[in-house]
Amino acid sequence: MTTNTNIQGIDTTNRDRIKIFDTTLRDGEQSPGCSMNLEEKLRIAAILEEMGVDIIEAGFPIASNGDFESVKAIAEQSTRSVIAGLCRANRKDIDRAWEALQHADGGQRARIHTFISTSPVHMKYKLRMEPDAVMDAIVDSVSYARSKVDDVEWSPEDGTRTERDFLCRVVETAIKHGATTINIPDTVGYMVADEYQELIEMLMNSVPNIDKATISTHCHNDLGVAVANSLAGCFAGARQIECTINGIGERAGNASLEEVVMAMRTRADRLPFFTDIDTTKIMKASKALGNITGFGVQPNKAIVGANAFAHESGIHQDGMIKNAETYEIMRPEWVGLTDSNLVMGKHSGRNAFKTKLAELGYTLADNQLNDAFQRFKDLADQKKDVFDEDLIALVDDTARANDTIKFEELSIHCGHKGPHVASLVVRVDGQRVPVTAEGNGPVDAIFNGFHKAYPHEANLKLYQVHAVTGGTDAQAEVSVKLEHDGWTVTGLGADVDTLVASARAYANALNRYIVKREKADSEVAAA
Ligand code: KIV
Ligand code: ZN
Repeated sequence: MTTNTNIQGIDTTNRDRIKIFDTTLRDGEQSPGCSMNLEEKLRIAAILEEMGVDIIEAGFPIASNGDFESVKAIAEQSTRSVIAGLCRANRKDIDRAWEALQHADGGQRARIHTFISTSPVHMKYKLRMEPDAVMDAIVDSVSYARSKVDDVEWSPEDGTRTERDFLCRVVETAIKHGATTINIPDTVGYMVADEYQELIEMLMNSVPNIDKATISTHCHNDLGVAVANSLAGCFAGARQIECTINGIGERAGNASLEEVVMAMRTRADRLPFFTDIDTTKIMKASKALGNITGFGVQPNKAIVGANAFAHESGIHQDGMIKNAETYEIMRPEWVGLTDSNLVMGKHSGRNAFKTKLAELGYTLADNQLNDAFQRFKDLADQKKDVFDEDLIALVDDTARANDTIKFEELSIHCGHKGPHVASLVVRVDGQRVPVTAEGNGPVDAIFNGFHKAYPHEANLKLYQVHAVTGGTDAQAEVSVKLEHDGWTVTGLGADVDTLVASARAYANALNRYIVKREKADSEVAAA
């Protein structure tokens, strides 16, 4: 007898395949402080594709020039995944999305995702449209999108709070006019699992042409049940889950990719589904995203938190030594965790360094590689053991090639009597700018130095230090959150010297602030 096993070793006979639609770069990026630049989005997209994500929602092309350019660049870079772009229900949005998406194999791997609100409260207050006008907009936008591409997804925003009869009618209309995927967003994260399951079941039983489309879940996590709701949706017949790495997204976030995928892998006995995700890439994706956005996950986060596989108590450790199955439902290596993350020391050469970086998902240009290698050598001189985490922190810091602000040198005068004085050298748009500034403590003096070198309006909201790894020679990782006009950006910096790490983190946050400010300006211009 032949068995069909997938990449995770799951026997797929009598199981339904669930497509994974990742929206980290669209819904995820919309969450406060999670904005990414082009190079960063390309890096995440490459990891998602390597993981086997079926559809990557790369952005909202009409939202800004930056969004357009990144959707286009991701479409060009991709080789396997379908690339989706979001649009409202109008032709201008669809044209702009198509302009970017047609670069995915000449449009062969392109998906247009168009949406409009359908709940009474959204139609009345947000859209100020009557239901009939919303229906007309659906007919026009879906058929227009379908005239561009065969793969069209349609979403009724706030679908779970939409009147049931109207929901059935809009879904039927969208399918009739060419939608091939129907997504049912729980936009405000209001549903509980049996209710969401019933809603999808109701659509499956009441919409006459429902078999012509794939049904998709899109659950927000306001009540902490987004993953449960998504799985419940699959029991009712949904065959696509929309989710994000680390569960990032608006407010409390979206369903987390690693949780839905690992639930299906680990509980294949209860869940008659499978995905084709290479789960061993999960940690890499999670860490890369955390490092890029400065938004790490809480230590007890399921699957990817630092404690997810840690067994602290004596009783648990004893059990684990005797047999890992006593307390472990998943093997750490399934998600890409290995014991051997001690990488290199000061005798490692440039080639080994380059190979290790490639394993961690980094391909650096020659000049960046030289800088990173030099910093690695300096670090290895100061620190006995260099771990993957150290390298990731170091490279993320070095690889910011297009940054406006570059930190170069720092010396500090401090002590219990003061004054606290920072002498900094930074480059602003390539120009060397030396500055000296005083402050209430060395960190304040450094940040005042940045204000002098590059005057700006952002205010410091948060300053945090933690150790990248254990030991007194650990690198300090500093995060700095800046706020301006109601939005925030987070910068990270790492170094064995906490003050140098602080300067790097501030420079990183400032660069994000500059990118975000440009994006905000171009969004205002596009509106
Ligand atoms: O949450 C939501 O409703 C969305 C839609 C645009 C799909 O993100
Ligand atoms: Zn959403």
